[in-house]
Parts: sequence; C-alpha cells; structure tokens
Amino acid sequence: MHSVAIITVSDRSAAGEREDISGPEAAAAFDPETFRIELQEIVPDDRPRITEMLRRCVAEGYALIVTTGGTGFAQRDVTPEATLEVIERRADGLAEAMRAASLTFTKFAVLSRGVCGIAGRTLIVNLPGSPKGVRQCLDVIMPVLPHALRVLRQDAIADIEHTGTK
Ligand code: MTE
Repeated sequence: MHSVAIITVSDRSAAGEREDISGPEAAAAFDPETFRIELQEIVPDDRPRITEMLRRCVAEGYALIVTTGGTGFAQRDVTPEATLEVIERRADGLAEAMRAASLTFTKFAVLSRGVCGIAGRTLIVNLPGSPKGVRQCLDVIMPVLPHALRVLRQDAIADIEHTGTK
C-alpha cells in the first residue's frame, strides 16, 4: 500500500469561491487496492504555502504527493517553482510522458510547466489544474507508479515492517 497526499493549488478553491473538482478527480484515479489517499488539502497559489505543504508531506513520509493546478503561465502559477525548491532529484520522464500524451488531447498541453521529482523517499508529481487534465495525465503514469514507488521505497518498506511508520 502506498500512501498518497493530494494537494489542490488554487486561490479560488482555497478561498471557498470554487468547488475543488480536480482533487477528488485525482483521488478517484487511484486503485484503493494499491494506494491509500491519506490527505487531501487545498492551498492558495502562494509559493511559500505550497513549499511548506510539500515539505510537511515529505517529512510525514508520504510515498506520493500529487499536486493539481498552478502549472501554467499566469503570474500566480508557481507550483513547479515550489516543487523544484523541495525535490532533490528530478523525474523528468514522468513529466515528459504526461505532456507528450496530453498533446494528443489539447495543443495547450505545452503550457503546463509541471515537474516531477523525488524528495527523500517521496515522489512529487505536478498535474495541470483541469479535472480532465488530471485524469489524462494520471492515466499515463499510473501503470508505472507502483513499480516506481516500490523501487524508491525499498529500504523504507523494510523499515515499515520493523517500525510500523508510514
Ligand atoms: N493537459 C491535459 N492532459 N489536459 C488539459 O486539459 N490543459 C492545459 C495544460 N495541460 C490540459 C493539459 C492548459 S489549458 C493549461 S493553461 C496548462 O495545462 C496549465 O494548467 P494549470 O495552470 O491549471 O496547471
């Protein structure tokens, strides 16, 4: 079982002005046999707030953090910058595959600046903000995620068996 945190990045959803559809859409894409969604949060498009949330989830030992939103060209779109502050190693293959596949759905796929990378034992994946984009992108990486997380967390899984931590 891989623990998952889903973070919706949106000023309007954080202010309660718009229902968050994308976070629940992401949550629904995960097979409960393999993944356990343990956290779903909404944060505004504020770089320090996003960074703080990512760091908290990494410290808490989540296997996977999925963000949705804030990857575009608007001045307040800073999710990739916050993510780059937190990750230690990039996982460009995931971001490249999602962007390439997304191009078959919309020419605007190239406007997502989302990044993916590893912080400690946690994989962080940036998804675009639209619910459709969330689903389309997760469909691309879902087949490799269990293997990726198993490899990333090999030692951690041994620790869990010994200490019971996440
Ligand atoms: N990727 C997929 N698969 N489907 C989409 O609908 N929307 C695009 C792009 N990537 C989209 C997508 C659009 S219109 C934008 S502006 C960028 O993601 C950034 O979106 P964000 O700022 O909400 O993260």
